[in-house]
Amino acid sequence: MSESEWDKQFAALQSLQQQFSQEIETCSRRQDVEKVRINFLSKKSVLNQSFSLLSKAPVEIRPKLGNLLNQLRTEFSEQYKEKIAYFTELEKKKEDIDITLPGVVPLRGSRHPLTQTLDEIKEIFTNMGFSVEEGPEIENDYYNFEALNLPPDHPAREMHDTFYLPNDLLLRTHTSPVQIRVMEANQPPIRMIAPGRCYRKDTPDASHYPFFHQVEGLCVDEGISFADLKGVISIFAKKMFGSDVKTRFRPSFFPFTEPSAEYDFSCIICKGKGCKTCKGTGWLEISGAGMVDPEVFLFVNYDSEKYTGYAFGMGVERIAMLKFGINDIRYFFENDIRFLAQF
Ligand code: DAH
Repeated sequence: MSESEWDKQFAALQSLQQQFSQEIETCSRRQDVEKVRINFLSKKSVLNQSFSLLSKAPVEIRPKLGNLLNQLRTEFSEQYKEKIAYFTELEKKKEDIDITLPGVVPLRGSRHPLTQTLDEIKEIFTNMGFSVEEGPEIENDYYNFEALNLPPDHPAREMHDTFYLPNDLLLRTHTSPVQIRVMEANQPPIRMIAPGRCYRKDTPDASHYPFFHQVEGLCVDEGISFADLKGVISIFAKKMFGSDVKTRFRPSFFPFTEPSAEYDFSCIICKGKGCKTCKGTGWLEISGAGMVDPEVFLFVNYDSEKYTGYAFGMGVERIAMLKFGINDIRYFFENDIRFLAQF
């Protein structure tokens, strides 16, 4: 063989190495590995046949050729053994799996009871044509108080133990500021609810928490009357708690409504007979409502001669507690899986 022919021989052995690596890597079954062994390591394989070249090779080439052939044989057999070991391990693992054992049921999450309640409230109101609006939780004095007809030293501000932030900012104490934002940005007719989180400096107890959720309602158009408010609240009560639930309005005061009222639902636990939940009265206090005060319309440049409107508030925790029979507001925020898993 000429020198160039020996070069070709070396190149062929090199490409044999590549071929082997490729084939052994792509084996997906033990049988495939066996085939690779027969092709590359058996007596009749190209590699083993090539050992016969040694005796024909010139002395200067012989050590190089011998080294390469031995190196390939060691490499091939090691990789072969590794791959076989891999399949043996895999088969053992499969044997370890007892397919007759019952499966593990994956844990299923559920929506938080407040989210469920809120979704239900939204559904009831959107079905009556209300849009769902949002406002910021960090508010300023103007939207949270002033434009709602609560000037700086109005006594009603004291009820809202406010978390103040620097630069005239505060954490909103109710969702009513969304009324102002929506009226500023839109002309009547308006029919909206605004659900969201509110904050007050309350010490936690069974019915107070420093943050909580409200749903604000607002409807403004020509010819809106208190009767519309009563109708909407009454439909809400029936859809939320059952068709036999009655609604009543009691005179009250809010700076942003005139006249103002507080509304109650007949007790859903004792059906109005009197029990612990309704403190023997047969009625559950829900929240406040009323006709939008013309003073508020002044702040948003609505013509109060032309338009009238009603507004209402509602505490989401209060409704969820009644709906699910929960007697302590703190449960909602403790993230205790024993509580949450019940919903
Ligand atoms: N914003 C009041 C509060 O947090 C609740 C409320 C009362 C909202 C009367 C209203 C309303 O829209 O008309 O105590």
